[in-house]
Amino acid sequence: MKIAILTGAGVSAESGLGTFRDKGGMWTKYDLDEVATPQGFVRNPALVHDFYNARRANCVQAAPNAAHDALARLEKSAHDVTLITQNVDDLHERAGSQAVIHMHGSLTQATCAVCHATWVAPLVMAPDDPCPDCAAPATRPDIVWFGEVPYHMDQIAKVVSEADLFVAIGTSAEVYPAAGLVEIAQGRTLEVNLAPSAQANAFEDHLIGPATKVVPDWVAGLL
Ligand code: OAD
Repeated sequence: MKIAILTGAGVSAESGLGTFRDKGGMWTKYDLDEVATPQGFVRNPALVHDFYNARRANCVQAAPNAAHDALARLEKSAHDVTLITQNVDDLHERAGSQAVIHMHGSLTQATCAVCHATWVAPLVMAPDDPCPDCAAPATRPDIVWFGEVPYHMDQIAKVVSEADLFVAIGTSAEVYPAAGLVEIAQGRTLEVNLAPSAQANAFEDHLIGPATKVVPDWVAGLL
């Protein structure tokens, strides 16, 4: 079976990485316009680097959980699995998933706002860091900010529309285009979440509960 899986912050919540919109989430503590937009980066690059340096430090300390592990097992099965994530952490990779599509970029990567070179991000980035390719002091985390176009959208649209099953795990479905992927799915659709998301009505099937419990059980049923 062709399975396209979209994950959001909820899949990493039980690894200790905060979500964005839940009670106490990131966007209740930080101003999204200041730390997650190109305009915010122009206004105050040090603030933006501080924000992502802290995210990167949290990520290094976190470990994949049972949901990440189960999804990696599913990828190794006879099913044709594509894992698409909105998450910028690398917990899917560290659980063993091989071909993760990071539509919102990655904390582990840096990019140059001038020449668009990309490289492995150091643990701590600073506004004056020169680009290793063109030397411009314009390095930024390789993260897709609000107002920017997510990565790999053509590939994602193809995979989701051709899948026999589309599954969204731990995402509030508040951010487009990820939230709209369920609309182009032609196969069966399943939402896994602690609580119904903003797009819950667009899914045929629902599994409600913590990802570390629900995802391994669901994967065990498929294997
Ligand atoms: P949100 O914080 O918006 O939503 C997290 C979702 O995870 C919610 O629907 C929760 O109910 C669910 N959840 C929380 N804990 C869970 C658990 N243990 N098991 C299962 N589900 C759980 O995060 P995203 O939907 O990922 O973008 O946010 C989408 C994008 O908005 C992010 O990629 C980020 C953010 O702004 C950028 O920064 C560009």
